[in-house]
Amino acid sequence: MRQIRPNVYAVGAIDFDVRLFDRLIPLPDGTSYNSYLIKGSEKTALLDTVDPAKTEVLLSNLAKLGADKIDYVIAHHAEQDHCGSLPDVLLKYPDAKAVTNPKCKGMLIDLLGIEDDKFITIEDSEILSLGGKTLQFIYLPWVHWPETMGTYLKEDKILFSCDFFGAHLATSSLFVDDEAAVYEPAKRYYAEIMMPFRRQINANLTKLDAMEIDIIAPSHGPVYNRPEFIVGAYKDWASETVKNEVVVPYVSMHGSTAKMVSYFVEALINRGITVKQFELSTVDIGKLAMALVDAATIVIGSPTVLVGPHPCAAYATFLANALRPKTRFASVIGSYGWGGKMVEQLTGMISNLKVEVLEPVVARGAPTKDDLVALDRLADDILAKHKGIGIVS
Ligand code: FEO
Repeated sequence: MRQIRPNVYAVGAIDFDVRLFDRLIPLPDGTSYNSYLIKGSEKTALLDTVDPAKTEVLLSNLAKLGADKIDYVIAHHAEQDHCGSLPDVLLKYPDAKAVTNPKCKGMLIDLLGIEDDKFITIEDSEILSLGGKTLQFIYLPWVHWPETMGTYLKEDKILFSCDFFGAHLATSSLFVDDEAAVYEPAKRYYAEIMMPFRRQINANLTKLDAMEIDIIAPSHGPVYNRPEFIVGAYKDWASETVKNEVVVPYVSMHGSTAKMVSYFVEALINRGITVKQFELSTVDIGKLAMALVDAATIVIGSPTVLVGPHPCAAYATFLANALRPKTRFASVIGSYGWGGKMVEQLTGMISNLKVEVLEPVVARGAPTKDDLVALDRLADDILAKHKGIGIVS
């Protein structure tokens, strides 16, 4: 339990040890489930709860603060890492009402079985006064579910932003004390959670532009006391601008694809293009997702297995398609022993990406001299395309 401003407390849980989220997302730096208590002169509000595994931490923090009465529990988002403890909190504080938007209410009933009469629903921009602490609810749809919203505490100019601007980072520091150290976990979080909703993120950033914000308190990671740091980073990541970078996720079984990747990566470097190469049987998918935030081009490297792509390459391609990066060009390189439809299957998996597919290079067996010439041609094509969109000086 720590104080952000007078009568505004962080009461959530830091999880230093967790290493996987949603049984999918690596958490190299742990995470936190942030919950905030705001005491007004008349009413007290709890903003979000915590993951069910950390319910006891939240209840203990509330007890340490002497919070014997909670009037409102604001639910910004129905995902269980923030609402999973809501049923227990409502049991502990039976007079409390859950305050949320109608969409989130429906989801909380579906996901957690909370009774209809426990809710107060609010609309976008609606105000709730606690007495000297005025809450304004700000709808922030699709960061990263349809019902997500935030709360603006007017007197202290604090935006409680829900998952928006969050970072999977367990730290004992309440506020960001090292922006460079927070940048990567925040970018990882954006890449894994927010990137598919880039258009809506830009709309929400525009909505916030009009607000005077001194502090952003997200639902994961430390609190930003210099909001322009994270807002500026989001504007960069969510912009239309791509960088002179090629992401090369690849896997190789017997070395042919690896030889092609090695030659191709050197060809790109020789042309002044930044390359981010990922071996897919050992990859941290968060790092791959982060690389996709900025890159102009993705080139997938795969051998042919049972007439299709290697499953590791298929997984990475499926993930890239789901994350919808702003990547502009794509291609495939790889090899086969006796035949198959590896290229067709991989390019058929990227229908969400607004990319131009450049001519792939596929070797029969180990790459020949002609295959290496074709890889140089693909590197030339990529350089020309990058020049064509003005990202190479
Ligand atoms: Fe942190 Fe979407 O939950």
